[in-house]
Amino acid sequence: MLTPTDEIVSAAAARGRGVGAFNVIQLEHAEALVAGAERAGAPVVLQISENAVRYHGALAPIGLATLEVARRSTARVAVHLDHAESTELVAEAVALGFTSVMFDGSKLDYAENVRVTAEVVRRCHSAGVSVEAELGEVGGKDGVHAAGARTDPAEAARFVADTGVDALAVAVGSSHAMLTKDAALDFGLIGELSGAVPVPLVLHGSSGVPDEGLTLAVDSGMTKINIATQLNKVFTAAVREFLAANPGVVDTRKYLAAGREAVAAEVCRLLGVLRAA
Ligand code: G3H
Ligand code: ZN
Repeated sequence: MLTPTDEIVSAAAARGRGVGAFNVIQLEHAEALVAGAERAGAPVVLQISENAVRYHGALAPIGLATLEVARRSTARVAVHLDHAESTELVAEAVALGFTSVMFDGSKLDYAENVRVTAEVVRRCHSAGVSVEAELGEVGGKDGVHAAGARTDPAEAARFVADTGVDALAVAVGSSHAMLTKDAALDFGLIGELSGAVPVPLVLHGSSGVPDEGLTLAVDSGMTKINIATQLNKVFTAAVREFLAANPGVVDTRKYLAAGREAVAAEVCRLLGVLRAA
């Protein structure tokens, strides 16, 4: 059932649990994510990034399909707009019924990030939609891996007070779109941030973090764990394997079903790693 993001994330934070937040690119991803969550008996966040919107050319078709998949699930499912830099896109997601948005002002200077994020929070809260923001840019969004950025705990606390955001993405050693599992997280910093910041913390670029690191990140105070690349790897590997074994197949349903099932199984496994159930 469609569930407010903040309800899922706040409950998990209060209990020291993680929340899996996985990216939807096409319909099969959304179907796989809810199947994995139902198997694991855990809630889940389905998120659509501004990049995925660019790929489709519009938010509404994939967004409405994802919302409908969420409504039909027996699991508690939130639908979130991920890494939005456009305030128009944020407004569209709110109008469609998304349960939360991430406004990504991490490329802006501090004062401008505060100004625009606070305005997004004001508009979203009046519609009952929660807001995630980012402070201290997590690298890798442009294909250049930079795990060196770190969020300062005192600045993070001030940013949350100045903007009223409901969750904060922080830079603690991960980087987006890593294909190898060698990101070394700064667990001490996660603990410090969790003590200083009064809202749940979000880890981006989690695909490069080994399983033990993900569990330890949750134990150290991270709550929403964003994973995209890892699921693309699993989906693509299953499709490759299916096509190699069945070179005569032309029905797209045959190989997309193989990818969808592989992602569902991986989501169920990852939700266990995150202690999300
Ligand atoms: O916002 C989405 C995530 O940060 C996903 O990052 O593709 O490295 O797992 P990833
Ligand atoms: Zn991200």
